[in-house]
Amino acid sequence: MRSSAKKYKIAVIPGDGTGPEVIREGLKVLDAVSQKAAFKCELAMYDFGGERYIKTKEVLPDSALLELRKVNAIYLGAVGHPDVKPGILEKGLLLKLRFSLEQYINLRPVKLYPGVWTPLKDKGPRDIDFVVVRENNEGLYVGEGEFIDKGKKSETALQVSRNTRKGVERCVKYAFEYTKKRNKEKKLTLCGKTNVLTYAWDLWERTFHEVAKAYPGIKTDYAHVDATCMWMIKNPEWFDVIVTDNMFGDIITDLGAMIQGGMGIAAGGNLNPEGVSMFEPIGGSAPKYTGKNVINPLAAICALSMLLDEIGEVKAAAMVENSVMKVTTKMKSLAAGRMGYSTSEVGDLVVANL
Ligand code: IPM
Ligand code: MN
Repeated sequence: MRSSAKKYKIAVIPGDGTGPEVIREGLKVLDAVSQKAAFKCELAMYDFGGERYIKTKEVLPDSALLELRKVNAIYLGAVGHPDVKPGILEKGLLLKLRFSLEQYINLRPVKLYPGVWTPLKDKGPRDIDFVVVRENNEGLYVGEGEFIDKGKKSETALQVSRNTRKGVERCVKYAFEYTKKRNKEKKLTLCGKTNVLTYAWDLWERTFHEVAKAYPGIKTDYAHVDATCMWMIKNPEWFDVIVTDNMFGDIITDLGAMIQGGMGIAAGGNLNPEGVSMFEPIGGSAPKYTGKNVINPLAAICALSMLLDEIGEVKAAAMVENSVMKVTTKMKSLAAGRMGYSTSEVGDLVVANL
């Protein structure tokens, strides 16, 4: 949410594992860039995550949800705790926030920065630079389904993918608008599975072509999700913007993270263009690295850059991204423990290069 006062309220949820360590570096950068770009941020810290859940059995109190509706943006570290059953924090915190705040877009840039190693031979920063617009409120993530004959030989499990015209249309429209503004080829690829998932992707395809009529300047393309994975490896330069559903978007953006240098750099924004958005590194809480000062904070710092862009501090956002691009050329690797620097040193370098 934008503010004209040059004063923003940011909710910070450092979360689990290495989340607090990377968020600490992100806040260090925020402090420095806000002084340079002359704006102010008031931070509201929230201790949600595994530790709090273990102590109180509470994941996200309703009162906090009300408070979070009033901030300009949310900055999230990571969720996932080794002593909490998988699903509780993911569903109760991350997905709960995405759904309740109607953050219907998950924007995930796949960009290879200078000096960063990619597993793709003969591909460089000019080839790997696209953005995935992932639908973030529907599809298989709605949690609908049932067991029939649970525990019996005849057991069946149903998992529903719900795709509404409204949900698909607002996502596709956002993707067209984003492609129009983005300074590249003006090409939008729909990534789906029309050959097998004939209900969901029929709706997506129809909506895509209808919305496209209002954007004559944008080239449209279609690729099945399996083929998309293939092209992302073989010819990543073919992509400008990809729009897809929640599940496919989840999967292809992990693939995307790997070709852009790994989870140490991959960031994303959960956007409600009319409301409150939330920014996060897309990797997990990496419990085995917790407290060691070896995790890469750049993904969290890139998420901060996206946050600044969204609240309207466009110049500050660019300053942070440009600084990250200088820092990546100095690092030995983006992988935890092999960066040639500690977590806090990487944060210091980003500050120094602002
Ligand atoms: C992501 C994560 C989440 C997702 C998990 C933690 C629920 O993998 O942000 O991509 O599947 O969306
Ligand atoms: Mn994921």
